[in-house]
Parts: sequence; C-alpha cells; structure tokens
Amino acid sequence: MVSSSIYIPILAFTSLVALQSPAAPKKGGNPEAAKIKNPVAATAESIAAGKRAYQRLCVKCHGPEGKGDGSAATGAVPPDLTDAQSDYGSSDGDLFAVIHDGTSPDMEGYAGRLNDTEMWNIVNYVKTLRQR
Ligand code: HEC
Repeated sequence: MVSSSIYIPILAFTSLVALQSPAAPKKGGNPEAAKIKNPVAATAESIAAGKRAYQRLCVKCHGPEGKGDGSAATGAVPPDLTDAQSDYGSSDGDLFAVIHDGTSPDMEGYAGRLNDTEMWNIVNYVKTLRQR
C-alpha cells in the first residue's frame, strides 16, 4: 500500500512533463519555442549533469568548448555555441527545440534518447559556454 502510493505523484509529474511538446526549431528562432519556459533551474547539479551529457553526445561535433571544432561533423560545420547569437534563436526554448528535434539533416534530435529534464540540463550547460 505504502509503496504504490509513492508512485502516484511520480507518475503525475512524468506525464505533465511528457505533455510539453516543443515547437519545431526554425532558422531565425521560433516564437512558439521562445515561449517555452525552462522548467529546470540552472543549479550547479543541473549544469553538471548537462555537461556530462554534452561531453557524451555533443563534443564530437561542437567541440569541448562549443566552438564548433569537433571532428565528427559531417556536412555542415557546427555553429559556434559560445556566441550569444544562434541561427535557431537564443532563448532557452529555442535551444531546447534544437536539442529535442535536431536540425535535419545536419544534427539528429535527442527526443528519443533523453528525457526532457536531461535536455533542459544540456540547455543550462550550453548557456554557460557563452562568452558574449
Ligand atoms: C553530428 C554532429 C552534431 C552533433 C552530435 C550535435 N550537433 Fe548540434 N549542430 C550540428 C550542426 C551541423 C548544426 C548546424 C545546423 C544548421 O545550421 O542547420 C548544429 C546546430 C546546433 C545548435 C544551433 C546553434 C546555432 O547557432 O544555430 C545548437 C544549440 C546545437 N547544435 C546544440 C547541440 C547539442 C547540445 C548537442 C548534443 C546534445 C548537439 N548539438 C549535437 C551538428 C551536431
């Protein structure tokens, strides 16, 4: 009895998060994506988790500091993530949309492999790479 009641709030939380479907990434930024609020606070834990995921999944193309100097990019050169401007918009929601959906054909989306929280952690980390 006690153990099953523990799962109810967890399930409710998970389905709420799953309902959030981001707008597709668009060149110039998608106003719908910009409206998506980042639900994950940029705590040290979130940024550290995002960094681990970035190193596992993104470094090969975007490079260790996000300068676009990874070696695995095929086709288009990965953009510099350290400037505040992005072809796909610079809001948290735009970053999330790119990570979620990818930018066909140059970058695959991660929606099938990462959950939303993991992708927001990456958003929080990628923003720390910006130097302005
Ligand atoms: C296979 C190589 C590759 C991998 C792996 C990859 N990317 Fe990309 N990424 C690209 C390319 C190439 C573009 C540019 C696409 C375009 O302009 O259409 C891009 C675009 C982006 C953009 C848009 C930036 C801008 O200025 O427009 C962001 C943000 C981004 N990637 C983040 C990530 C993150 C975070 C990961 C890991 C979860 C990741 N990428 C994994 C190749 C990759």
